[in-house]
Amino acid sequence: MLSSYELRQKYLTFFERRGHAVIPSASLVPENDPSSLFTTAGMQPLVPYLLGKDHPRGKRIVNVQKCVRTGDIDDVGDNRHLTFFEMLGNWSLGDYFKDEAITWSLEFLTSKEEGLGLDINRLYVTTFKGEGNIPRDEESIEVWKREFAKHGKHVEVSHDETISDTKRIIPLGVDDNFWIAGGTGPCGGDTEIFYDTQPEEGDFEGTFTQNVDSFRLIEIWNNVFMEFNKSEDGFYTPLEHKNVDTGMGLERTVAVLNGKSTVFDIDTFQIILSKLQTLGAYDPEENNKKSERVVADHIRSATFMIADGVIPSNSEQGYVLRRLLRRAVRHADKLDIPAGSLSRISQQCVIETYKDTYHELKMHEDAIMSEIKKEEERFRTTLEKGMKEFNKIGGDITGKQAFDLYQSFGFPIEVTRELATEKGLSVDEEGFKTLLKDHQDSSRKGSEQRFKGGLADTSEMSVKYHTATHLLNAALRSVLGEHISQRGSNITIERMRFDFSHGEKMSEEQKKEVETLVNSWIKQDLPVSQAVMNKDEVFARGAIGVFTDTYGDEVSVYSIGNENKTISMELCGGPHVDRTSKLGVFTIAKEEAVSQGVRRIKATLNHSS
Ligand code: SER
Repeated sequence: MLSSYELRQKYLTFFERRGHAVIPSASLVPENDPSSLFTTAGMQPLVPYLLGKDHPRGKRIVNVQKCVRTGDIDDVGDNRHLTFFEMLGNWSLGDYFKDEAITWSLEFLTSKEEGLGLDINRLYVTTFKGEGNIPRDEESIEVWKREFAKHGKHVEVSHDETISDTKRIIPLGVDDNFWIAGGTGPCGGDTEIFYDTQPEEGDFEGTFTQNVDSFRLIEIWNNVFMEFNKSEDGFYTPLEHKNVDTGMGLERTVAVLNGKSTVFDIDTFQIILSKLQTLGAYDPEENNKKSERVVADHIRSATFMIADGVIPSNSEQGYVLRRLLRRAVRHADKLDIPAGSLSRISQQCVIETYKDTYHELKMHEDAIMSEIKKEEERFRTTLEKGMKEFNKIGGDITGKQAFDLYQSFGFPIEVTRELATEKGLSVDEEGFKTLLKDHQDSSRKGSEQRFKGGLADTSEMSVKYHTATHLLNAALRSVLGEHISQRGSNITIERMRFDFSHGEKMSEEQKKEVETLVNSWIKQDLPVSQAVMNKDEVFARGAIGVFTDTYGDEVSVYSIGNENKTISMELCGGPHVDRTSKLGVFTIAKEEAVSQGVRRIKATLNHSS
């Protein structure tokens, strides 16, 4: 069996040998991108470099990126959907293009020595058919033909989407073979590689798409050839340099290559599922598969989210985490897993399994365990009463009833929906949504703003807020003391939020002092500069922060200050404004508690008049 660990290592080594620098995964929480709550694809943290910024590690990069997609949270429990997954990717930032990318893809998949040693007869590819002003991708077709020929296979383009031993190249349109994250940003046509999971079935019947829909063919790798930047008004402008963005979903590939029909059959999930079966009192062969998978998937996601600084709350990332944990609690109950087990499952089956690849898990083990434990306890204080309330409802659930379950008993809507489905009842979700919207009018405004920006839009405002975050951090350390450390930050185009370790409420004077200090630094028009430093020397030079943007032994550091004094020196990947005067006027809007020992400041920047 090819293990997850082996696939990761093979992939990284293969591309490292071909001149790629191995970089660690970026955080699941996009630091400076207010347009999405979580990192959803490998390309997301690399957007500035895809748009032309120089990457400190060069033009060839390889990585495994942690990703979260919760759009289809309800689908978890079927064979394929996961809320957390790992994406393998090799990147050319203005370096190689279609020829090398395709050549290496086929080499990695088929080479017995350096790659996966797959049978070439099981591989089929799609290419971009062209649409509008963008022509059909002829180059990829030629390279695929040439590379298949090296294996003694003559292959041709399928003009009618039927497939056969020779017809292995299928050109498809924008819906299938053009890749963009969200609505804007770097994008381009792609070529996708599919694996035949049932060669014993012999000749294909039907079209390519029919065989994808029946899961005989499964996509294992996507090579995107990024040539354009799509702006908000819908225009495609050619990128400064062309890039390659490839993505191979780790869990799915491990499953497919081991002949497993579900991602839950792979090594890393089997560890969690066996634990659930030991702890619970249920028959894994009976109707419990869905609950098992929900618990396993959600605990894995939650563990990685907390390691990246998310804590359960009622908004944004925190609320996604809360929903995952609460749904996990409910399904754990259905499996008769003893109350209070979730944090131990996280520790023994997730942290232990992934700790060598993701060091942040072990580093934050205590926080992970205590947050999961606390959230389980919190939900349990209302769960039983909420269940009683739910059971009292005689028929279909009205919007008001769903809202009361949410408001008074902390039931996320998907928990109510699932409970209703189990009893054959329906939920008026539109009614629920209306009540929820009325209730959170202000946060709704925030989230509309959030999505308007588009993924690549590191808008001017969010860059300013990012620099303001560094100034605030420095001012807090100066006013409250050196014990202050950043516990999280979140930026929208309207405001910044900054969480930090501090045991008590700030006084009015302290808030005023911090505000004045930040504004005085802004007025001094201090330069902001970036440097790449050796890991060993950065702390010796007084930098603060954690290693997020690491490039091997080197880290990116941003300093604010002039030759007389350095106000702030932080480990950070940027981007930032070049001079502080661009920020305008800084105002603290609110200071509040987040949890024991953690405070939160919300602040705004306004144009000076
Ligand atoms: N961006 C592409 C994807 O997510 C390839 O990495 O599929």
